[in-house]
Amino acid sequence: VERVTVPMLQRWKEEGRRIAMTTAYDAVMARIADPIVDVILVGDSVGNVCLGFGNTLPVSMAMMNHHLEAVARAKPRALLVADMPFLSFHLSAEDTIRNAGGFLQRGADAVKLEGGAKRIEVIRALVDCEIPVMGHLGLTPQSVSVMGGFKVQGRKADDALRLLDEAHLLQEAGCFALVLEGIPAELAARATASLRVPTIGIGAGAGCSGQVLVFHDVLGLTEGPRPKFVRAYLDGFQLLQEALSRWASDVREGTFPQPQQSYRVPEGLSDAIAN
Ligand code: KIV
Ligand code: NA
Repeated sequence: VERVTVPMLQRWKEEGRRIAMTTAYDAVMARIADPIVDVILVGDSVGNVCLGFGNTLPVSMAMMNHHLEAVARAKPRALLVADMPFLSFHLSAEDTIRNAGGFLQRGADAVKLEGGAKRIEVIRALVDCEIPVMGHLGLTPQSVSVMGGFKVQGRKADDALRLLDEAHLLQEAGCFALVLEGIPAELAARATASLRVPTIGIGAGAGCSGQVLVFHDVLGLTEGPRPKFVRAYLDGFQLLQEALSRWASDVREGTFPQPQQSYRVPEGLSDAIAN
């Protein structure tokens, strides 16, 4: 099977073919998602989605490497993007290159990092090392403390214009695609129309070159109320609980396992065991 590559995404934007991207945090999720989507992201969302943190700030390089290695073992045909966690690209170009290069050595095709003008220098340094970079603008979850919560960005004229400027700065710095998160649909559509590189939206309307949604959100595997930008295609949480509960009842009633789930001794040995 042909693997998805970085240049393909650019071509797909030109052809008007929309890009579907979801997250995976282990080999099982990667195998489920791989035949379906174009891009698999090992997101730092693993922190909230799988590890029980309230936000993505505690996610470390060690955690990301652990999950990336599990996903990479599934040998996806989808483009595999690894998310640079908080503080993994802020200290120095050298530290950033080592972290991002380590992702590529573990099987990632590209890295993603959050931020605009402040990150241009470090993005250039990565691109100079042949490391493909996906940008990420708008509601960047690693900025939660500065934003004062997870709030839609780019709703004021100056913020909207700055976002458009930063999208172009990221493109000129060499990003091959941009995630646009939590911004008005009109702003994301304007950015998409004015950029050469594809945009991948999440809570950014239908005018992007593609969409990304967290695996657990698409499949309804999270509890509680869902954000406005999520559409769950399965009530996964409830369906999994129903199946698990049928198994637990069978255990309690003694109807699991049946002979077909049990091993037998060879002919002749049963007497020896019985006596
Ligand atoms: O970590 C993540 O899952 C992400 C996507 C939602 C874009 O950054
Ligand atoms: Na992320």
